[in-house]
Amino acid sequence: MRSKFMASYIIRNVSKSVTLLRLNDTDVKYFEANWHIPEGITYNAYVIKGKDGAVLIDLWKQKYSDLFLEALKQVVEPAEIRYVVVNHAEPDHTGALEAFSEVNPNAIVVAFPIAESLLRAKYNFKNQFKSLKNDESLSLSDITLKFIYTPWVHWPETMMTYYEQERILFTCDAFGSYSIPDGVDDQVADKEYERYSEKYLVTVIGSYRDNLLKNIEKLNLEGIKPAIIAPSHGLIWSKNPERVIQLYTRWARGESDEKKAVIIYASMYGSIESVVKKIKDSLPGVNFKTFAFTDNKRDDIEDALTEANGAKVVVIASPTYEVGPHPSIAQLIDIFSMKMKGLNKPTVLLTSYGWSSTADKRNLKAMQDAGFKVIDQATFKEKIAENDLKRIVSSISAALSSQP
Ligand SMILES: Cc1cc2nc3c(=O)[nH]c(=O)nc-3n(C[C@H](O)[C@H](O)[C@H](O)COP(=O)(O)O)c2cc1C
Repeated sequence: MRSKFMASYIIRNVSKSVTLLRLNDTDVKYFEANWHIPEGITYNAYVIKGKDGAVLIDLWKQKYSDLFLEALKQVVEPAEIRYVVVNHAEPDHTGALEAFSEVNPNAIVVAFPIAESLLRAKYNFKNQFKSLKNDESLSLSDITLKFIYTPWVHWPETMMTYYEQERILFTCDAFGSYSIPDGVDDQVADKEYERYSEKYLVTVIGSYRDNLLKNIEKLNLEGIKPAIIAPSHGLIWSKNPERVIQLYTRWARGESDEKKAVIIYASMYGSIESVVKKIKDSLPGVNFKTFAFTDNKRDDIEDALTEANGAKVVVIASPTYEVGPHPSIAQLIDIFSMKMKGLNKPTVLLTSYGWSSTADKRNLKAMQDAGFKVIDQATFKEKIAENDLKRIVSSISAALSSQP
């Protein structure tokens, strides 16, 4: 089914009583008005049908409200929905709440209090709330839901919902991904999909890695071993749910099984670019991923972040621009300090200048403050000295061969 926004939706059975309503958003270009996602994204809502009514888990973005109701009515009579579980108040999962409320003002919205205040502030709707206090359960005859508070696995109100009878964990943003896969479950989770998932983790939840890891541990401690992990973006993990937990854990830690070096540079008139070339020529066997900001190239910053997340060493090279770093590099470091803080990733800094520069000192401080481990740096007037080049090359080489 297609809409005027070039989006479509699909409806699939996930289990005996759970149905997926998935909106494929091909219209969105910049997720959170920031992250370039030509691959698109999905919004996954779920309906659990029981003997005494149904439960809706999460919704879609507001502009797809009409499509949401159209899809919902194919699965269940909206009036039969007794509870709307809001795992996360962000509008990509709650925007259709107003439209839903028009057709069912009696369903009770289940969420943590911060979500209630956010939703009441943003939307006009009449439905009552069941405000959760701590982790607690709710029963609707043959449906038992356990709500697990997972604060700051994106926002302060974020939670997960575990459907005990079928061992399905609805995780909202956690274990989600960008892209619009051909299938709905992890049978189609290939390398490309994994890359989109890592990109999603880094850009959306990157600042909250520690909370993500803590809450993965919390699920373990609470003995929750889901048979199916059903996030609100991307694929449902029903064949191998453990796999997405392992992947997410590895990415949240910034680990990789590849010997990969990432170079991110800006170059206005070629001085930095020629040094980058020399470094790459000196290490012919190395898997370099290079991202450039030049007068005819502007790589996606989100791809640079994603590759840097799993790199063994990161090289950041900047010309001096009005005494400081080039604006593209300044922005990149700013985003690093938000999304990749504290990974202790080995880093090499290169700075070129013409007459006087503070870019090297500023970049060094900013990267150290962001929790990167600066292992070497070189500052040069237009051309790098041979001995500096040699040293930088051997620092990169050593970082690539070091054990994690
Ligand atoms: C717009 C602009 C601003 C610059 N500002 C400075 C500066 O404040 N201090 C300095 O030493 N060099 C400055 N430079 C010189 C460059 O930093 C220097 O030529 C550098 O090596 C350029 O590297 P690239 O060719 O890779 O961009 C500036 C150059 C440009 C084009």
